[in-house]
Amino acid sequence: MSSKDAIELAEKFGAHNYHPLPIVISGAEGVWVEDPEGRKFMDMLSAYSALNQGHRHPKIIQALIDQANKVTLTSRAFHNDQLGVFLKLLCEVTGFESALPMNTGAEAVETAIKAIRKWGYKKKGVAAGKAEIIVCTDNFHGRTTTIVGFSTEDQYKDGFGPFTPGFVVVPFGDTAALEAAFNENTVGFLVEPIQGEAGINVPPAGYMKRARELCDEYKALLCCDEIQTGFGRTGKMFAFEHEGIRPDCVTVGKALGGGVFPVSGFLASWDVMDVFSPGDHGSTFGGNPLGAAVGMASLEVLIEDDLCAASDAMGAYLVAALEAIDSDHVKEVRGRGLLIGVEIKEEVGTARPFCEALMLRGILAKETHHQVIRFAPPLTITKEEIDWALVHIGQVLNGELVDGEVVTKEG
Ligand SMILES: Cc1ncc(COP(=O)(O)O)c(C=O)c1O
Repeated sequence: MSSKDAIELAEKFGAHNYHPLPIVISGAEGVWVEDPEGRKFMDMLSAYSALNQGHRHPKIIQALIDQANKVTLTSRAFHNDQLGVFLKLLCEVTGFESALPMNTGAEAVETAIKAIRKWGYKKKGVAAGKAEIIVCTDNFHGRTTTIVGFSTEDQYKDGFGPFTPGFVVVPFGDTAALEAAFNENTVGFLVEPIQGEAGINVPPAGYMKRARELCDEYKALLCCDEIQTGFGRTGKMFAFEHEGIRPDCVTVGKALGGGVFPVSGFLASWDVMDVFSPGDHGSTFGGNPLGAAVGMASLEVLIEDDLCAASDAMGAYLVAALEAIDSDHVKEVRGRGLLIGVEIKEEVGTARPFCEALMLRGILAKETHHQVIRFAPPLTITKEEIDWALVHIGQVLNGELVDGEVVTKEG
């Protein structure tokens, strides 16, 4: 099937809730993907950081196949032999005492919201129905109705109300506003340590440290959403480590499934996790043996291939090289590790035509929040591969928005 036919079918029968670049991916390996016409592209999006280990990492694929040949789904009505060992490894790698497995990121965040509220009522003693969770402007925590209800992006909410109360929104990165938002009913602060979807926003130094202090002061839980930033993406296992703090709980997803299978989770101390009793919460697929086996392999690859260090080193190299590109179109280059945003000046236009031009040159990157090109390749990317990409990125950022023929790696 040609790319054109594949796109036409998806448009004809699929809901139009995305605006993808017009490329069809029919094969992939490592940092490279291929379209049905045999053209090769470098993947610099990594499925929004779900492909930290690269496409089809052999160890993860092998774990998937081996487990698929044994048992794939039991539901939590019964035990399976993969879940316990997976959760043990997840806790060891992340330093948390306990984990609750889910599938998608949004489900992990919903789990966190339920845990934080219940902890607030049962452990902190907040009066029934009064619990408040502080969240930030420009947050992105997923697409459920509760979660979009506290988004500050109009489009995410438009037509989907009424929304769940109990969330207080403060400007991201503003310590004074955060201090002012805490009160005796505050049960938690839910925050992305670096905002991904909002355009790779890194908070000012000391912000997360102050958040930790305020949570301690008011007896509230600090919950970091590391679904996009976790598992090496920012050059450390978790982005909160950049400020030397430990949150009380964390949501994880994306790369936990190694780009192969949806695996997410909520991690916390037992003081928080033990608010859940049998029947309080669950998911048919959450904790399934196939996801557990894949999750285990995904974590092992991260450790064995030292992907946090690789992300740190390659990220520093890529940021320095992007900063060195002398372009009139670029306002700022920012990020940590291999989560990098290049902001295009508003007077130049949006980031979309730059992403389209990059695609024509064999590089897949996606605009986020109109002005920002996000560069987040698999953490397995080599210096040689980055150097190849930089030639094209440099030309595109300098305004050579080629229109027409695709000039890919082979071309
Ligand atoms: C920080 C963060 N939280 C939650 C989510 C939602 O994850 P999912 O799309 O798997 O529901 C995302 C997805 O981009 C995210 O970046």
